[in-house]
Amino acid sequence: MTQNPFSTVITPLILLIPSIVSGYQLHYHDESFTPDVVLRVAATNISRACLDRYSVLVNGTSPGPELRLREGRTYWIRVYNDMDVQNLTMHWHGLSMAASPFSDGSPQASQWPIAPQHFFDYELHPDIGDAGTYFYHSHIGFQAVSASGALIIEEPEPAYEYDGEHTIHLSDLFEKTDDEIEKGLTSTPFVWSGETSNVLVNGQGIPVEPDTSSDGCSMATFLVEPEKVYRLRFIGATALSFVSLGFQSHNNLTIIEADGHYTKPFEVEYLQIGSGQRFSVLLRGKSQEELEQDRANGIDQYFLQIETRDRPTSLRSYAVLLYPGGGNDTSAMPASPPITLPNTTLGWLDYQLRPLTPNNFPTLSEVTRRVTVTITQIIDNTVVTWLQNGFPWTEKFPPMPYLVALYDDNISMFPSYDVAVAYGGMDDSTRTFPAKLGEVLEIVIQNTVEVGGILNVHPFHAHGAHFYDIGSGNGTYDLQENEERLKGTEPVRRDTTMLYRYARSGIDGAPAGWRAWRLRVTNAGVWLVHCHILQHMLMGMQTVWVFGDRDDVLRLGTPSVQGYLSYGGAAYGNSSRWPTCVHYWDDD
Ligand code: C2O
Ligand code: CU
Repeated sequence: MTQNPFSTVITPLILLIPSIVSGYQLHYHDESFTPDVVLRVAATNISRACLDRYSVLVNGTSPGPELRLREGRTYWIRVYNDMDVQNLTMHWHGLSMAASPFSDGSPQASQWPIAPQHFFDYELHPDIGDAGTYFYHSHIGFQAVSASGALIIEEPEPAYEYDGEHTIHLSDLFEKTDDEIEKGLTSTPFVWSGETSNVLVNGQGIPVEPDTSSDGCSMATFLVEPEKVYRLRFIGATALSFVSLGFQSHNNLTIIEADGHYTKPFEVEYLQIGSGQRFSVLLRGKSQEELEQDRANGIDQYFLQIETRDRPTSLRSYAVLLYPGGGNDTSAMPASPPITLPNTTLGWLDYQLRPLTPNNFPTLSEVTRRVTVTITQIIDNTVVTWLQNGFPWTEKFPPMPYLVALYDDNISMFPSYDVAVAYGGMDDSTRTFPAKLGEVLEIVIQNTVEVGGILNVHPFHAHGAHFYDIGSGNGTYDLQENEERLKGTEPVRRDTTMLYRYARSGIDGAPAGWRAWRLRVTNAGVWLVHCHILQHMLMGMQTVWVFGDRDDVLRLGTPSVQGYLSYGGAAYGNSSRWPTCVHYWDDD
């Protein structure tokens, strides 16, 4: 640290001229630098669905602004932490940050969080082929319950034709504040967050409790024209809710995208969306004739009906599909649910979705190593913790972010590949799962029955790269059996897929369902793999994967990254200092 050339007063003058260090450009982001996007994050009271709650907001709203970026270009997104005491990071859910690893927004894994009253410039470069539906969210504590927004990657010519599109961002609304929830989940006595009080659509909704006033709040609306085709981009930005949803009298939905990858057209009548998942579907507007018929029968608008699944109680919320000249009542729920949604469909879409174009699926003979991540739950002195292969991981575990430690030559935080391989995949002193570039991993996430004989569903999400989803099932993973099921299928690449529950109860600790992925290890860096339910993350349901050996990971060269290596370091700006940043992409 003593050699840090960027901590002296004269540094800014030197850095006015971009200097090349280890092939990477260092830039001083002073007033002459204009970020492509500015996001300001602050916590304040906001009323949504007629409920007042102290919430973390992006640019004053929840969801924050929809960002639309073009693939194949570099963007700088400046994120201000305008909060007084809380840390912040921003994660670009579904995008690989392989080339700009400090920009992944995973606290204590890839970067120091943005300290209060500081800002950080994230460098994003969506690759050609990334066009699709993503979202951004804070990765600290419970903030993502409200601090998130749509992130759409555009291409010059979409693979499917449509006349228009709508983004449908789903989020939960809790009565307790983030702070109360975090404290309850992590201290003695354990206190559950409570259930969500609503599933909001683009931040909108009306109270689901009957007889609660909906004065001043309304359901989200989506305007469609007769006979026109719309791309509906669904984003599962919920904290907890796993939902089933469908449209009244529009059951001809065609899935064309899952988690940022186009699929062959796949017809469905409803969707099932877990936290972290995205789908695009095509919906065709009714004909004028059909609309007139419906109006003659007293139907002049159509509901999007959303129901939560796999919780003690099911909650139902709505949004509204409108046609020009039709009704537009957004303040009252239908007297009775217009459609009947199925119970959870186990293994929904598994083995069925096909990639639109060949995706280089690794065959069984290419698999070099299988890692089983077994999830168990323990209760110790009333604190409830989730473990993976015997260990929990939260952002409180490592004393510093792994990527920082690696650059800082902190050997104690670099995983031992040999230890990991000898012990089922994890190096327990660093609590990481290392892999070498070029490996083809098969990752099996194995659920077990929780304390008290209960079971939950878990949407598992991977940072850093998309995996090939090879399905799920009850009990334990059987390689031969699954190979049989995979015959004739073409697994798609995803970043979030579900661990289902096949029963509501069982014997404590018994195996209870699995999900399996294959992954070509190509992106060096430190990547989280975790359940996307925010409560479960806070309770330890996260793992850290380190891809590449030391040289692969540290390809930036130590001098250029000094500003990233300390909390509030020179890569982080504040009111009296502009940040000094590495430009990984040099196309500006
Ligand atoms: Cu959207 Cu690490 O998650
Ligand atoms: Cu979970």
